[in-house]
Amino acid sequence: MNILQMLREWSGEPHWHKQVRTYIRWMHLGDMPAVVQIEQASFAYTWTEEQILRCWRQRNCIGLVAERNEKVVGFMMYELHKAKLHATNFAVAPTCRRQGIGRQLASKLISKVFSHHRPRLTLVVRENNMRAQFFFRAMTFCVVESLPGYYEDSGEDGLLMEYRVPTTVTAEQVDRLLESIWS
Ligand SMILES: CC(C)(COP(=O)(O)OP(=O)(O)OC[C@H]1O[C@@H](n2cnc3c(N)ncnc32)[C@H](O)[C@@H]1OP(=O)(O)O)[C@@H](O)C(=O)NCCC(=O)NCCS
Repeated sequence: MNILQMLREWSGEPHWHKQVRTYIRWMHLGDMPAVVQIEQASFAYTWTEEQILRCWRQRNCIGLVAERNEKVVGFMMYELHKAKLHATNFAVAPTCRRQGIGRQLASKLISKVFSHHRPRLTLVVRENNMRAQFFFRAMTFCVVESLPGYYEDSGEDGLLMEYRVPTTVTAEQVDRLLESIWS
């Protein structure tokens, strides 16, 4: 993608947009080739298949994929901690972006905060990954901390982003929140 296309994408200029209802399900071992392909197409510094598997096989780690027309088009992994969920990986296949698939994955992730009764959901974004920052801000996450030199591979800083559940929240408010993410 050249700089003009990048700026056009960031500027929110009207673009072809199709809300694709995507099926989100547990990740299976057979999804790994597609997951690794999406990971490699999405980042300059990527996790290897071994790293993905090691993380996923932890007892507190859950992997989900987004499937469309029986094809894996996105995935995410998150860890269950005592007081929070922490997303370790989150990506949508480049050809399927800006079609609402990331939104569906994020909406599922946020719903897990409620089903697992954890009040916080965190993730770390590279400082220069503006696309992900725009995306997670649109998903009502906030930057809560800067993490200098967080990434060992590039020495880049990380930004800790957080979604926090309002202290008193009703089931109706949860539905409204998820609806607002969708609208
Ligand atoms: C970030 C990412 C997951 C977004 O997935 P996506 O499927 O394209 O996101 P959606 O289509 O659901 O976008 C939802 C909203 O997020 C915002 N958004 C998404 N991509 C954006 C971009 N490039 N620029 C500005 N805003 C963006 C918009 O508000 C968008 O709503 P709109 O399309 O109605 O304007 C995807 O770009 C990706 O996989 N990037 C590479 C991997 C990555 O950086 N992962 C995060 C690591 S922490």
